[in-house]
Amino acid sequence: MAAVLQRGGREIWLDGPHYMDVLRALHARLKPASYFEIGTLHGQTLALARCASVAVDPAFQLTCDVHEGKPSCRLFEQTSDDFFATHDLAALFGGPVELAFLDGMHAFAFLLRDFINTERASAPGSTIVLHDCLPREASMTGGPERREQGLARYRGYWTGDVWKMVPVLRALRPEISLTCLDAPPTGLVVCTGLDPASRVLANAYDATLAKWAPVDIYDYGLPRLHAEADPRSAAAWLDAKAPFSHPQPAWKRAIKRAFRRP
Ligand SMILES: C[S@@+](CC[C@H](N)C(=O)[O-])C[C@H]1O[C@@H](n2cnc3c(N)ncnc32)[C@H](O)[C@@H]1O
Repeated sequence: MAAVLQRGGREIWLDGPHYMDVLRALHARLKPASYFEIGTLHGQTLALARCASVAVDPAFQLTCDVHEGKPSCRLFEQTSDDFFATHDLAALFGGPVELAFLDGMHAFAFLLRDFINTERASAPGSTIVLHDCLPREASMTGGPERREQGLARYRGYWTGDVWKMVPVLRALRPEISLTCLDAPPTGLVVCTGLDPASRVLANAYDATLAKWAPVDIYDYGLPRLHAEADPRSAAAWLDAKAPFSHPQPAWKRAIKRAFRRP
């Protein structure tokens, strides 16, 4: 079982490999030529990349060598909005972003903008991974008071309302293959089948925010989100025998096979 609802649907139990292990495997399998990251903090996720990398964070607190093994690594100490307003991401790489990890501000409006801007700089065969979209219980999505009311084991975590990306992408961009993985602590959402030319999300941005602003997970319901996310076993996906050689056509077939429920 990849993920189960506990305590009468009030908790999602994710028992797959840690998200860092899944990201490490993604780098090893996809062997992207370019990696883009929003939200770097100590640098643990950026350090996994072995290719030309660009990372954005308004407050880097690096505790590891993020340059090791990379032909180039450029750090932009600014918000992602400022970064996209002042830089052409694809031009920085001299080509599209092949793998991106979006883990900046945990607010739906921010992640939606980050996704729109990153997809624009991607290729159809690229992969965008979202973090924190599977809150383990409702309290993780709220402010300090809400978190105090939640289970003690989750009090250190704040996912905000980025969970809304799952129903919104499923509804507005059904052609994107969205695979939610049971990677603790708060899941990974792997997005493939991108369309850099699509303006659907950008055009629907204001209406989407207006529609979703009043919705919180307490009303929406964790079981409903769980059903829509339909988390898959990251372990089964990691064990997939298929050869990954991004961005060749074989990679596309492989990822489809790997993402099928075991
Ligand atoms: C959860 S941490 C990232 C952790 C890292 N990816 C990891 O897994 O180890 C979130 C980071 O997002 C950064 N952040 C906050 N607001 C941001 C924004 N508007 N644009 C980009 N990054 C932002 C914070 O400074 C923080 O370092």
